[in-house]
Amino acid sequence: MSRSIGLDETLTAYVRNANRQEHPALAACREFTANMGQIARMQISPEQGAFLQLCARMVNARTVVEIGVFTGYSSLTTLLVMQELHGDAARLYACDINADYFRQSKRFWDQAGVTDLIEMRQGDAVETVHALVEDIPGEADMMFIDADKANYDTYYEAGLQLLRPGGLMLLDNVLWSGDVTDARKREGDRDTRALYEIAEKIRDDSRVDMAFTAIGDGILMAIKR
Ligand SMILES: C[S@@+](CC[C@H](N)C(=O)[O-])C[C@H]1O[C@@H](n2cnc3c(N)ncnc32)[C@H](O)[C@@H]1O
Repeated sequence: MSRSIGLDETLTAYVRNANRQEHPALAACREFTANMGQIARMQISPEQGAFLQLCARMVNARTVVEIGVFTGYSSLTTLLVMQELHGDAARLYACDINADYFRQSKRFWDQAGVTDLIEMRQGDAVETVHALVEDIPGEADMMFIDADKANYDTYYEAGLQLLRPGGLMLLDNVLWSGDVTDARKREGDRDTRALYEIAEKIRDDSRVDMAFTAIGDGILMAIKR
């Protein structure tokens, strides 16, 4: 039986070069974020970005909800495809609690000419997703969840109301650097436990088709039936 392999620096560079070059605004966003220090680790990798772009194409994404924007990389990578597919009709609902992050993201969104396609929803996403369920029920083609792990179940349940049948949900960091396999960490750490529990729940959930992938720190994919 084959299994996923860990990537060392050489293989990571190989994978990066095997993908297409990033849009200049994505490269600028990455460079800016790298200078923020340790926190830069929150940003998805370029290969995860390429993966998100292909997902957006596969579901013909016009309406997307993103929970956890940070400096705007994942939203921008998704929007570049949405704009190509749907022009001004594309709409990405960008949800984050931190107003500074929106200010930083806007520089790169402006550079790529996609800011008009973004609806910024600043605040605790637990409240934001409930408001979105009122505003755009059943309209989302795709949803990317990459914020506070303890609330993944809330985002998942709201996501099932936001997505159209056939819509795709992606939950990032479901491997949590491997901590999800450690029973003691699951007991002592709320985030680790939440990630473990949501993976079990989605596996057994007849409302979706799913695949738990080992891309990056783990991306759990679920398609609404
Ligand atoms: C891992 S980062 C997102 C990275 C981003 N997707 C990217 O690729 O650059 C997580 C983000 O979630 C936001 N966040 C954390 N808790 C939140 C909450 N309760 N509501 C909304 N946003 C939250 C943080 O402010 C942070 O920007």
